[in-house]
Amino acid sequence: KNDELPSQNEGHELAARFYHHVLMNTEQGKQAYDYLEARGVTAELMERFQLGFSPDQPEVLKGLLDKRGFDFDQMNEQGLLYRTESTGELRDRFRNRIMFPIRDLRGRTVGFGGRTLGGAEPKYLNSPDSPLFHKNELLYGFDVARKAVRRENAAVLFEGYADVIAAHKAGVDNGMASLGTSLTDRQAQIIRRNTERIIICYDGDNAGQDAAWRAGEVLEKQGLNVEAAMLPAQTDPDDYIQMYGPDRFQKEIIEMALPFMSFKMQALKKDKNLQDEGDKLRYIEEVLKEMTALSRAVERDFYLRQVADEFSLSLDALKQEQYRIFKEQG
Ligand code: UTP
Ligand code: MN
Ligand code: MN
Ligand code: MN
Ligand code: MN
Repeated sequence: KNDELPSQNEGHELAARFYHHVLMNTEQGKQAYDYLEARGVTAELMERFQLGFSPDQPEVLKGLLDKRGFDFDQMNEQGLLYRTESTGELRDRFRNRIMFPIRDLRGRTVGFGGRTLGGAEPKYLNSPDSPLFHKNELLYGFDVARKAVRRENAAVLFEGYADVIAAHKAGVDNGMASLGTSLTDRQAQIIRRNTERIIICYDGDNAGQDAAWRAGEVLEKQGLNVEAAMLPAQTDPDDYIQMYGPDRFQKEIIEMALPFMSFKMQALKKDKNLQDEGDKLRYIEEVLKEMTALSRAVERDFYLRQVADEFSLSLDALKQEQYRIFKEQG
């Protein structure tokens, strides 16, 4: 695939400008504006991320696209419009939603995530994949974060659009998010081209922690140095920043991020009672298994010693056990 051949994205540029205008300047957008403001999103952030609002009408964008002579079939293929099942008529895909334009690395808008205001399902509606929009190789916010990522030789990976924006406000301006799906090899490669170090900062719930584990493995496979930040359960980065402020977010969450192996060790402890002999042995076996994936001998040695100390075991016994597991894995 040749990245130098741009697909036509003028429809998306027009839509982004239109939605943004509705949010910033119209009565129709006022509820959404107030909602965002109450969540701490300033007008400046709305500008930087070109946030918008799609009115609760079936054919506003369609009318605008029509007036400007856009091809409806293409707009349908690109997901700005969709065909109703009943009559096959073309309608605006996004209605009554806060619009997050999704841009490629060069800043061209190629898709949208739309958050419901009225409680409609799904909570976030995303553009479907099309010749213009490839979910698997885009990262929300990367266009805005890229300079900071290069400067700091580090990126922060979030789950959500709102987290990226809140973090940016809190001074963590090297943040980005995958688009509601598991992180892909392709996305990890793109990150790797811009930095060597990544901090995963996913939601504190179980789903978030499981996803962080999976994302970490994908990122390590592409050669990134992975760390993972831990959030209190039931909290996401945006919540945390709202509750405790930018300072604590930086100092107690981002700067306290653990090396990926330590994160995995903590995660493996979570559902176990280490006073219990059986749980303890299971924990040790699971940790040793994860350690066989470490590429550097120094690292393996470091964590092996840590486990030996923690459970008063001899290094020798641990090494024998690790060898057994290694052979079992083939
Ligand atoms: P969350 O459910 O954690 O939402 O989904 P959030 O980002 O915290 O949003 P707020 O704070 O309720 O507004 C994390 C991310 O997963 C994707 C979106 O990218 C979202 O930002 N997602 C979630 C979807 O694509 N569709 C959904 O229905 C829900
Ligand atoms: Mn503007
Ligand atoms: Mn979540
Ligand atoms: Mn969340
Ligand atoms: Mn949230």
